[in-house]
Amino acid sequence: MKESSIFIVGANGQLGTALRAHYSGAQYADVGELDITNRESVESFDWSGIEVILNAAAFTNVDGAETAEGRIAAWNVNASAVANLARVCQMHEITLFHISSDYVFDGMHEPHTEDEPFSPLGVYGQSKAAGDIAVSLIPQHYILRATWVIGEGKNFVRTMLGLAEKGVSPTVVADQIGRLTFTSELVRIIDHLLTNKAPFGTYNATNSGNLASWAEITRIIFSITGYKDLTVTDTSTAEYFAGKDGIAPRPLGSNMDLSKLQSTGFTSRDWKEDLQDYIAKEKETII
Ligand SMILES: NC(=O)c1ccc[n+]([C@@H]2O[C@H](COP(=O)([O-])OP(=O)(O)OC[C@H]3O[C@@H](n4cnc5c(N)ncnc54)[C@H](OP(=O)(O)O)[C@@H]3O)[C@@H](O)[C@H]2O)c1
Repeated sequence: MKESSIFIVGANGQLGTALRAHYSGAQYADVGELDITNRESVESFDWSGIEVILNAAAFTNVDGAETAEGRIAAWNVNASAVANLARVCQMHEITLFHISSDYVFDGMHEPHTEDEPFSPLGVYGQSKAAGDIAVSLIPQHYILRATWVIGEGKNFVRTMLGLAEKGVSPTVVADQIGRLTFTSELVRIIDHLLTNKAPFGTYNATNSGNLASWAEITRIIFSITGYKDLTVTDTSTAEYFAGKDGIAPRPLGSNMDLSKLQSTGFTSRDWKEDLQDYIAKEKETII
């Protein structure tokens, strides 16, 4: 397949940036060039020659989605806009890759398999679940369920590295358990499914490796970077957000079962290996 037949939507986000770097010949747009919430713009766009749309666009501000304005924005981008993309994909026989989230579940039924019924706790998760339903209606689709995405942009690893540089010993949530998903891994998964013409459908799509809490991940980040003097204090999600308004409920269990993806011949990378590489690159940038 020619890379020019691939179109990346939401191209400036964490995943969009990684996809653009990998598929350097692909066409792409972010909200400035193509606002996917605008049905008319999406339908009148020139899709000729496009065989695959990679949808990396989303409203990802989980707490922002709980506000009056954010609720509308989240539903627009994560649900209505996704229906717009699904519609044009069906019209033009384009394959749609869409990224979903562990937040479509309440985190109580682990490991999460692809056929678990939706049980989102907050507005972000509800809007993402609605997007999944829209995509599932068209035959040529892949829905990839990611967790805790780390790439080029604002993310947990960068936040913790920033605190460490300032000499802050943080208090970190220890009762949310999951795995990081590096955008490099998501790109490898997308490329694998596309190249191998894997059966259409929903796939859990995270790195492999031991499950860990955010606090444990922080200790590993500090150990890799050599911040030996800093300590990480465990707290619970409830304690961490106590007294703060407008906080979205979070699923505590984000263990995604990777066996369906692996049955397609994909070998997942351990998140700790990708974390080492990520931190090494971050250090190069700082130097
Ligand atoms: N981040 C996580 O921890 C996480 C976890 C699980 C799943 N996911 C899913 O993984 C996918 C990628 O996440 P990410 O972290 O790469 O997201 P991100 O960095 O927030 O990027 C999303 C991109 O979509 C763009 N966008 C927003 N509204 C748009 C619109 N109306 N039309 C076109 N583009 C629009 C954003 O532009 P602006 O910045 O200008 O708004 C941004 O460039 C998303 O589907 C997300 O739900 C993320």
